[in-house]
Amino acid sequence: MRVTIKDIAKETNLSIATVSLVLNNKADNISSKTRKLVIDTAKRLNYHPNQLAVSLVKKRTHTIGLIIPDIGNSFFSELANEINLEIQNSGWNIILCCTNDKFSRDLEYLQILFGKGVEGILYVMSSDYTSLTLSAGKIIDELPIPIVFVDRYDPMINRSSVLLNYKKGSYLATRHLINLGHKKIACITGPMGLANSNERIEGYRLALQDSNLPIDNTLVFEGDYRYQSGAGLAEKVLQVPGVSAVFAFNDLMAYGVMRGLKAHGVRIPEDISLVGFDDIEFSSMLETPLTTVCQPTKEIGRLAAQRLLKEIEKKSLGPSHHIILEPSLIIRSSTSPPISGRTEK
Ligand code: RIB
Repeated sequence: MRVTIKDIAKETNLSIATVSLVLNNKADNISSKTRKLVIDTAKRLNYHPNQLAVSLVKKRTHTIGLIIPDIGNSFFSELANEINLEIQNSGWNIILCCTNDKFSRDLEYLQILFGKGVEGILYVMSSDYTSLTLSAGKIIDELPIPIVFVDRYDPMINRSSVLLNYKKGSYLATRHLINLGHKKIACITGPMGLANSNERIEGYRLALQDSNLPIDNTLVFEGDYRYQSGAGLAEKVLQVPGVSAVFAFNDLMAYGVMRGLKAHGVRIPEDISLVGFDDIEFSSMLETPLTTVCQPTKEIGRLAAQRLLKEIEKKSLGPSHHIILEPSLIIRSSTSPPISGRTEK
Protein backbone atom coordinates (compact mmCIF):
# COMPACT_ATOMS: atom_id res chain seq x y z
CA MET A 1 0.00 0.00 0.00
CA ARG A 2 1.52 3.32 -1.08
CA VAL A 3 2.33 5.65 1.85
CA THR A 4 0.80 9.10 1.32
CA ILE A 5 1.26 12.59 2.80
CA LYS A 6 -1.99 11.95 4.68
CA ASP A 7 -0.43 8.94 6.45
CA ILE A 8 2.57 11.02 7.53
CA ALA A 9 0.28 13.81 8.83
CA LYS A 10 -1.66 11.25 10.91
CA GLU A 11 1.54 9.63 12.22
CA THR A 12 3.06 12.97 13.26
CA ASN A 13 -0.21 14.61 14.33
CA LEU A 14 0.56 17.49 11.95
CA SER A 15 -1.58 19.04 9.19
CA ILE A 16 -1.33 17.75 5.62
CA ALA A 17 -0.32 21.28 4.56
CA THR A 18 2.64 21.31 7.00
CA VAL A 19 3.80 17.88 5.85
CA SER A 20 3.44 18.87 2.17
CA LEU A 21 5.45 22.09 2.67
CA VAL A 22 8.28 20.18 4.35
CA LEU A 23 8.41 17.44 1.69
CA ASN A 24 8.37 20.04 -1.12
CA ASN A 25 11.22 22.07 0.43
CA LYS A 26 8.95 25.08 1.05
CA ALA A 27 9.18 24.94 4.85
CA ASP A 28 11.01 28.22 5.53
CA ASN A 29 8.51 29.18 8.27
CA ILE A 30 8.42 25.75 9.94
CA SER A 31 10.72 24.89 12.87
CA SER A 32 13.68 22.63 12.22
CA LYS A 33 12.30 20.25 14.89
CA THR A 34 9.07 19.82 12.95
CA ARG A 35 10.93 19.52 9.63
CA LYS A 36 13.13 16.76 11.11
CA LEU A 37 10.04 14.93 12.48
CA VAL A 38 8.37 14.93 9.05
CA ILE A 39 11.50 13.80 7.15
CA ASP A 40 12.37 11.06 9.68
CA THR A 41 8.76 9.79 9.62
CA ALA A 42 8.72 9.79 5.79
CA LYS A 43 11.91 7.70 5.76
CA ARG A 44 10.62 5.34 8.46
CA LEU A 45 7.35 4.77 6.54
CA ASN A 46 9.32 4.41 3.26
CA TYR A 47 7.41 7.27 1.63
CA HIS A 48 8.02 7.95 -2.08
CA PRO A 49 6.22 10.86 -3.79
CA ASN A 50 3.73 9.89 -6.47
CA GLN A 51 5.75 11.10 -9.48
CA LEU A 52 2.67 11.41 -11.68
CA ALA A 53 0.87 13.51 -9.04
CA VAL A 54 3.97 15.65 -8.57
CA SER A 55 4.43 16.17 -12.28
CA LEU A 56 0.76 17.08 -12.79
CA VAL A 57 1.10 19.78 -10.12
CA LYS A 58 4.57 21.00 -11.02
CA LYS A 59 4.52 20.11 -14.72
CA ARG A 60 8.03 18.83 -14.04
CA THR A 61 8.98 15.18 -14.39
CA HIS A 62 12.74 15.66 -13.98
CA THR A 63 13.02 12.95 -16.62
CA ILE A 64 14.86 12.94 -19.95
CA GLY A 65 14.65 10.52 -22.87
CA LEU A 66 17.63 8.82 -24.57
CA ILE A 67 17.18 7.32 -28.05
CA ILE A 68 19.94 5.03 -29.38
CA PRO A 69 20.03 2.79 -32.49
CA ASP A 70 21.75 -0.43 -31.35
CA ILE A 71 22.27 -1.38 -27.68
CA GLY A 72 24.16 -4.48 -28.91
CA ASN A 73 27.00 -2.26 -30.16
CA SER A 74 29.34 -1.49 -27.25
CA PHE A 75 29.83 2.03 -28.58
CA PHE A 76 26.18 2.83 -27.83
CA SER A 77 25.96 0.85 -24.58
CA GLU A 78 29.11 2.58 -23.27
CA LEU A 79 27.62 5.95 -24.36
CA ALA A 80 24.25 5.18 -22.72
CA ASN A 81 25.97 4.09 -19.51
CA GLU A 82 27.87 7.37 -19.23
CA ILE A 83 24.78 9.45 -19.99
CA ASN A 84 22.81 7.46 -17.42
CA LEU A 85 25.44 8.11 -14.72
CA GLU A 86 25.56 11.86 -15.44
CA ILE A 87 21.77 12.20 -15.50
CA GLN A 88 21.25 10.21 -12.29
CA ASN A 89 24.07 12.08 -10.49
CA SER A 90 22.19 15.27 -11.40
CA GLY A 91 19.10 13.94 -9.62
CA TRP A 92 17.18 13.29 -12.84
CA ASN A 93 15.51 10.17 -14.25
CA ILE A 94 16.07 8.68 -17.72
CA ILE A 95 13.96 6.64 -20.16
CA LEU A 96 16.07 4.62 -22.64
CA CYS A 97 14.63 3.81 -26.09
CA CYS A 98 16.35 1.42 -28.54
CA THR A 99 15.25 1.81 -32.18
CA ASN A 100 17.08 -1.18 -33.74
CA ASP A 101 18.52 1.38 -36.15
CA LYS A 102 15.15 1.94 -37.84
CA PHE A 103 14.31 5.58 -38.36
CA SER A 104 10.57 4.95 -38.29
CA ARG A 105 11.05 3.98 -34.64
CA ASP A 106 12.99 7.21 -34.01
CA LEU A 107 9.90 9.21 -34.93
CA GLU A 108 7.63 7.03 -32.80
CA TYR A 109 9.88 7.29 -29.75
CA LEU A 110 10.37 11.05 -30.10
CA GLN A 111 6.61 11.46 -29.84
CA ILE A 112 6.07 8.75 -27.19
CA LEU A 113 8.72 10.34 -24.96
CA PHE A 114 7.16 13.79 -25.39
CA GLY A 115 3.78 12.32 -24.51
CA LYS A 116 5.25 10.84 -21.33
CA GLY A 117 6.35 14.29 -20.26
CA VAL A 118 10.13 14.07 -20.63
CA GLU A 119 11.69 17.52 -20.35
CA GLY A 120 14.35 16.91 -23.02
CA ILE A 121 15.74 14.21 -25.33
CA LEU A 122 19.28 13.01 -26.16
CA TYR A 123 19.02 11.62 -29.68
CA VAL A 124 21.31 9.29 -31.67
CA MET A 125 19.50 8.96 -35.01
CA SER A 126 19.15 5.71 -36.94
CA SER A 127 21.27 5.00 -40.00
CA ASP A 128 18.34 5.08 -42.47
CA TYR A 129 17.54 8.64 -41.36
CA THR A 130 17.68 10.05 -44.88
CA SER A 131 14.73 7.94 -45.94
CA LEU A 132 12.26 10.19 -44.10
CA THR A 133 14.23 13.38 -43.58
CA LEU A 134 11.47 15.84 -44.54
CA SER A 135 8.93 14.50 -42.03
CA ALA A 136 11.72 13.99 -39.50
CA GLY A 137 12.87 17.56 -39.72
CA LYS A 138 9.32 18.81 -39.19
CA ILE A 139 8.65 16.53 -36.19
CA ILE A 140 12.00 17.27 -34.56
CA ASP A 141 11.66 21.02 -35.16
CA GLU A 142 8.13 21.12 -33.74
CA LEU A 143 8.79 19.32 -30.45
CA PRO A 144 8.71 22.16 -27.85
CA ILE A 145 11.42 20.63 -25.67
CA PRO A 146 15.23 20.62 -25.96
CA ILE A 147 16.68 17.88 -28.16
CA VAL A 148 20.45 17.36 -28.36
CA PHE A 149 21.86 15.34 -31.27
CA VAL A 150 24.60 12.98 -30.03
CA ASP A 151 27.15 11.36 -32.38
CA ARG A 152 24.90 11.70 -35.42
CA TYR A 153 23.21 14.89 -36.62
CA ASP A 154 21.36 16.63 -39.41
CA PRO A 155 22.99 20.02 -40.15
CA MET A 156 19.65 21.20 -41.57
CA ILE A 157 17.96 20.99 -38.17
CA ASN A 158 18.56 23.74 -35.63
CA ARG A 159 19.29 21.63 -32.54
CA SER A 160 22.42 21.41 -30.40
CA SER A 161 24.85 18.56 -30.92
CA VAL A 162 27.80 16.77 -29.33
CA LEU A 163 29.96 15.14 -31.99
CA LEU A 164 33.48 14.03 -32.84
CA ASN A 165 35.75 15.39 -35.56
CA TYR A 166 35.10 12.30 -37.69
CA LYS A 167 37.02 13.63 -40.70
CA LYS A 168 40.17 14.08 -38.60
CA GLY A 169 39.80 10.61 -37.07
CA SER A 170 39.56 9.06 -40.49
CA TYR A 171 42.51 11.11 -41.72
CA LEU A 172 44.67 9.89 -38.80
CA ALA A 173 43.77 6.26 -39.53
CA THR A 174 44.53 6.51 -43.24
CA ARG A 175 47.75 8.48 -42.80
CA HIS A 176 48.95 5.87 -40.30
CA LEU A 177 48.57 3.16 -42.96
CA ILE A 178 50.19 5.31 -45.63
CA ASN A 179 53.13 6.12 -43.35
CA LEU A 180 53.62 2.38 -42.86
CA GLY A 181 54.04 2.06 -46.64
CA HIS A 182 50.54 0.93 -47.72
CA LYS A 183 49.45 2.32 -51.07
CA LYS A 184 46.26 0.39 -51.81
CA ILE A 185 43.95 0.85 -48.81
CA ALA A 186 40.38 -0.45 -48.95
CA CYS A 187 37.78 1.25 -46.80
CA ILE A 188 34.51 -0.09 -45.44
CA THR A 189 32.20 2.82 -44.76
CA GLY A 190 29.18 3.22 -42.53
CA PRO A 191 25.75 3.87 -44.06
CA MET A 192 26.35 6.61 -46.62
CA GLY A 193 23.22 8.50 -45.61
CA LEU A 194 24.84 9.38 -42.29
CA ALA A 195 26.80 12.63 -42.02
CA ASN A 196 29.38 11.00 -39.75
CA SER A 197 30.11 8.34 -42.37
CA ASN A 198 30.43 10.92 -45.14
CA GLU A 199 32.88 12.90 -43.02
CA ARG A 200 34.98 9.76 -42.53
CA ILE A 201 35.11 9.25 -46.30
CA GLU A 202 36.33 12.84 -46.68
CA GLY A 203 39.14 12.19 -44.17
CA TYR A 204 40.14 8.98 -45.98
CA ARG A 205 40.27 10.73 -49.36
CA LEU A 206 42.12 13.80 -48.03
CA ALA A 207 44.85 11.59 -46.54
CA LEU A 208 45.30 9.87 -49.93
CA GLN A 209 45.40 13.22 -51.73
CA ASP A 210 47.95 14.65 -49.28
CA SER A 211 50.19 11.66 -50.03
CA ASN A 212 49.70 11.90 -53.80
CA LEU A 213 47.97 8.53 -53.86
CA PRO A 214 45.07 7.96 -56.28
CA ILE A 215 41.46 7.96 -55.06
CA ASP A 216 40.09 4.66 -56.34
CA ASN A 217 36.38 4.13 -55.73
CA THR A 218 36.74 0.41 -56.38
CA LEU A 219 38.42 0.32 -52.96
CA VAL A 220 35.36 1.82 -51.20
CA PHE A 221 32.69 -0.60 -49.89
CA GLU A 222 29.52 0.50 -48.08
CA GLY A 223 28.88 -1.28 -44.77
CA ASP A 224 26.21 -0.75 -42.11
CA TYR A 225 28.27 -0.44 -38.91
CA ARG A 226 27.39 -4.06 -37.99
CA TYR A 227 29.70 -7.09 -37.60
CA GLN A 228 28.15 -9.11 -40.43
CA SER A 229 28.70 -6.41 -43.05
CA GLY A 230 32.41 -6.38 -42.22
CA ALA A 231 32.61 -10.17 -42.46
CA GLY A 232 30.72 -10.19 -45.76
CA LEU A 233 32.77 -7.40 -47.35
CA ALA A 234 36.11 -9.02 -46.44
CA GLU A 235 35.50 -11.40 -49.35
CA LYS A 236 35.02 -8.49 -51.78
CA VAL A 237 38.18 -6.79 -50.53
CA LEU A 238 40.17 -9.95 -51.29
CA GLN A 239 38.97 -9.82 -54.91
CA VAL A 240 40.78 -6.50 -55.44
CA PRO A 241 44.41 -7.20 -56.34
CA GLY A 242 47.15 -5.40 -54.41
CA VAL A 243 45.12 -4.35 -51.34
CA SER A 244 47.46 -4.47 -48.34
CA ALA A 245 45.33 -2.62 -45.76
CA VAL A 246 41.69 -2.14 -44.75
CA PHE A 247 40.20 0.79 -42.84
CA ALA A 248 36.75 -0.03 -41.36
CA PHE A 249 34.62 2.93 -40.15
CA ASN A 250 33.83 1.21 -36.85
CA ASP A 251 35.29 -1.54 -34.67
CA LEU A 252 32.37 -3.97 -35.06
CA MET A 253 32.86 -4.07 -38.84
CA ALA A 254 36.64 -4.34 -38.31
CA TYR A 255 35.97 -7.45 -36.16
CA GLY A 256 33.89 -8.83 -39.03
CA VAL A 257 36.67 -8.10 -41.53
CA MET A 258 39.16 -9.83 -39.20
CA ARG A 259 36.91 -12.90 -39.08
CA GLY A 260 36.33 -12.89 -42.82
CA LEU A 261 40.00 -12.50 -43.77
CA LYS A 262 41.17 -15.16 -41.31
CA ALA A 263 38.56 -17.55 -42.77
CA HIS A 264 40.48 -17.20 -46.06
CA GLY A 265 43.83 -17.84 -44.40
CA VAL A 266 44.79 -14.15 -44.54
CA ARG A 267 47.05 -13.11 -41.65
CA ILE A 268 46.63 -9.76 -39.84
CA PRO A 269 48.82 -7.71 -40.09
CA GLU A 270 51.35 -9.85 -42.01
CA ASP A 271 49.16 -10.07 -45.13
CA ILE A 272 46.68 -7.24 -44.56
CA SER A 273 46.78 -4.44 -41.97
CA LEU A 274 43.47 -3.47 -40.35
CA VAL A 275 42.26 -0.29 -38.64
CA GLY A 276 38.87 0.33 -36.97
CA PHE A 277 37.04 3.34 -35.44
CA ASP A 278 35.48 3.78 -31.94
CA ASP A 279 37.98 1.92 -29.68
CA ILE A 280 35.23 -0.03 -27.88
CA GLU A 281 36.34 -2.09 -24.90
CA PHE A 282 37.03 -5.39 -26.75
CA SER A 283 39.44 -3.88 -29.31
CA SER A 284 42.41 -4.12 -26.94
CA MET A 285 41.49 -7.68 -25.85
CA LEU A 286 41.46 -9.35 -29.30
CA GLU A 287 43.99 -12.07 -30.21
CA THR A 288 45.34 -9.40 -32.60
CA PRO A 289 44.58 -6.17 -30.71
CA LEU A 290 43.03 -3.62 -33.07
CA THR A 291 44.57 -0.34 -34.14
CA THR A 292 41.65 2.07 -34.07
CA VAL A 293 40.45 5.65 -33.77
CA CYS A 294 39.43 6.42 -30.20
CA GLN A 295 36.09 8.18 -29.63
CA PRO A 296 36.11 9.72 -26.08
CA THR A 297 32.72 8.08 -25.45
CA LYS A 298 32.60 8.92 -21.74
CA GLU A 299 33.26 12.59 -22.45
CA ILE A 300 30.72 12.64 -25.29
CA GLY A 301 28.07 11.17 -22.99
CA ARG A 302 28.87 13.46 -20.07
CA LEU A 303 28.91 16.64 -22.17
CA ALA A 304 25.69 15.69 -23.99
CA ALA A 305 23.86 15.11 -20.70
CA GLN A 306 25.15 18.39 -19.24
CA ARG A 307 24.19 20.28 -22.42
CA LEU A 308 20.63 18.94 -22.36
CA LEU A 309 20.09 19.73 -18.66
CA LYS A 310 21.43 23.25 -19.27
CA GLU A 311 18.97 23.81 -22.11
CA ILE A 312 16.09 22.44 -20.02
CA GLU A 313 16.87 24.82 -17.15
CA LYS A 314 17.19 27.75 -19.59
CA LYS A 315 13.47 27.17 -20.27
CA SER A 316 13.88 28.55 -23.78
CA LEU A 317 14.83 26.87 -27.02
CA GLY A 318 17.69 29.28 -27.59
CA PRO A 319 20.34 29.15 -30.36
CA SER A 320 21.80 25.69 -30.93
CA HIS A 321 25.23 24.96 -29.49
CA HIS A 322 27.68 22.50 -31.09
CA ILE A 323 30.48 20.66 -29.30
CA ILE A 324 33.04 18.80 -31.46
CA LEU A 325 35.53 16.57 -29.63
CA GLU A 326 38.93 15.45 -30.89
CA PRO A 327 39.76 11.84 -31.88
CA SER A 328 43.04 10.05 -31.21
CA LEU A 329 44.69 7.09 -32.94
CA ILE A 330 45.41 4.03 -30.77
CA ILE A 331 48.12 1.97 -32.48
CA ARG A 332 48.07 -1.75 -31.67
CA SER A 333 49.28 -4.89 -33.46
CA SER A 334 46.73 -5.11 -36.29
CA THR A 335 48.86 -2.76 -38.42
CA SER A 336 52.43 -3.09 -39.70
CA PRO A 337 54.41 -2.19 -42.83
CA PRO A 338 53.43 -4.35 -45.85
CA ILE A 339 55.23 -7.68 -45.35
CA SER A 340 53.93 -10.36 -47.69
CA GLY A 341 54.43 -8.38 -50.90
CA ARG A 342 50.70 -7.91 -51.52
CA THR A 343 51.26 -4.21 -52.25
CA GLU A 344 51.04 -2.89 -55.76
CA LYS A 345 54.48 -2.26 -57.25
O1 RIB B 1 29.83 1.79 -34.03
C1 RIB B 1 28.76 2.65 -34.33
C2 RIB B 1 29.19 3.81 -35.15
O2 RIB B 1 28.04 4.59 -35.38
C3 RIB B 1 30.20 4.69 -34.41
O3 RIB B 1 31.34 4.94 -35.20
C4 RIB B 1 29.44 5.93 -34.05
O4 RIB B 1 30.06 7.12 -34.54
C5 RIB B 1 28.04 5.73 -34.59
O5 RIB B 1 27.59 6.80 -35.39
